[in-house]
Amino acid sequence: QDQAAALEAFRQQICECTRCPLGQTRQRFVFGDGDPGAGILFVGEGPGEEEDRQGLPFVGAAGQLLTKIIEAMKMRRDQVYICNAVKCRPPNNRTPAPEELAACAPYLERQIEIISPRIICVLGRTAAQALLQLDSPLNAMRGRLHQYRGIPVVVTYHPAALLRHAEWKRQTWEDVKWLRREYDGTEL
Ligand code: URA
Repeated sequence: QDQAAALEAFRQQICECTRCPLGQTRQRFVFGDGDPGAGILFVGEGPGEEEDRQGLPFVGAAGQLLTKIIEAMKMRRDQVYICNAVKCRPPNNRTPAPEELAACAPYLERQIEIISPRIICVLGRTAAQALLQLDSPLNAMRGRLHQYRGIPVVVTYHPAALLRHAEWKRQTWEDVKWLRREYDGTEL
């Protein structure tokens, strides 16, 4: 309805963006995907190779793990919304530069305004820095409720980090169980 139309209008307005150098090297602009009226918003870092090819967020290996995490939360991927701090792939999947994150920040801000989620799950330190203007190690950001414009924010590991460090999965599970409880009281 309203949110879907507003989100689609906004996508059309920004999808040819060249405000930062990533606009020169991308294949596809990766706006975001999911339910425009979702109660839970996941925010990642930026598109990787597969996302850049398909124009959709979290469709590569890390994305498959994110899908499993969402399903372990007893939700479906199409019930949440998923986007990234930057909408275009950084070459060789390098970390987005501060200027790139800053150039793209108003887009994330507007998406959050339209979707108006009840809770935000930030995946990894880069996205947390972009959204919360925090500069602490990821572990210092975990385990407490942050706020973004009055919306509660939970920070956890990025799924790509979990592919390299399986030993962090247990803590991630604690984080998302807590997220789900904060969201609607469901105990996983
Ligand atoms: N990693 C991210 O941060 N975002 C994606 O969309 C895919 C992988």
